[in-house]
Amino acid sequence: MGLEILGLSKTFSGGSRGESVHVLDQLQHRIDNGRFVSLIGPSGCGKTTLLRIIAGLEKASVGKVLLDGKEMVRGSEDVGMVFQEYALFPWRTTLQNIEMGLEIRGMDKVRRRSIAMEYIKTFDLNGFEHRYPRELSGGMKQRVAIARTLVMNPRVVLMDEPFGSLDSQTRNAMQEFLLKIWLKRGDTIIFVTHNVEEAVFLSDEIVVLSRRPARMLERIEVAFPRPRDRTGEVCNHIRRDILKILEEEMKREEVRDEDHWNRLQSP
Ligand SMILES: Nc1ncnc2c1ncn2[C@@H]1O[C@H](COP(=O)(O)OP(=O)(O)O)[C@@H](O)[C@H]1O
Ligand SMILES: [Mg+2]
Repeated sequence: MGLEILGLSKTFSGGSRGESVHVLDQLQHRIDNGRFVSLIGPSGCGKTTLLRIIAGLEKASVGKVLLDGKEMVRGSEDVGMVFQEYALFPWRTTLQNIEMGLEIRGMDKVRRRSIAMEYIKTFDLNGFEHRYPRELSGGMKQRVAIARTLVMNPRVVLMDEPFGSLDSQTRNAMQEFLLKIWLKRGDTIIFVTHNVEEAVFLSDEIVVLSRRPARMLERIEVAFPRPRDRTGEVCNHIRRDILKILEEEMKREEVRDEDHWNRLQSP
């Protein structure tokens, strides 16, 4: 059982000049439950769009996404998303941010407070439960954002460059923290990153995407055990391979949207 991406293509139409933008090109992939999969690809290739389609926030033009054989629908409780820019509510405290989803779900106050406090403990936010986001460091804000998503117990967690705006030390600490949580919980994680080192350190599998429209260029199984030495020989070797694939891809001549459109239209 798992997540299946079946022949997924996406075209945005109706730009200001009525042009269409081809973003995803016949993506096909299967992710077994409980895996940590990273997506790497050039900026603007369609990674966020792919996550949004998986989350049911955006419709595919062609193809579909199934979780354990069932089609994903908008607002499904099976999926949670974490963004780079934290997306916390500034007028809510740490505790209120974390319990928000449970509140919307209609859980009574005593119960949701006690669950949220558990997460505050696990996420090293003790003493900050009544602080507002502006009073927290970047790493803390991101821990609140992750806690707020995981408290809903999604089976698939989508993370869109979650550590992209953190300094490198905080980023490394957050990666280790995320692994610790994930190893305990066993959710499926789909993690978008620009950072090849980060992908190698974290993932069971890395999917390398092409420039827009995103196609799958390569699927790399990262089988060596954790904890990994991020500057060790094995990590460096995989990193070099991925950087080479991306470099080659950036040299490739760009495909025009019209050509793609014509190809998709032709039988
Ligand atoms: N709602 C939209 N309407 C039109 N174009 C969009 C929309 N959302 C994204 N795009 C375009 O799709 C392309 C891929 O965007 P995105 O998925 O955000 O890329 P990435 O996350 O890989 O940087 C970009 O060229 C972007 O401008
Ligand atoms: Mg993006």
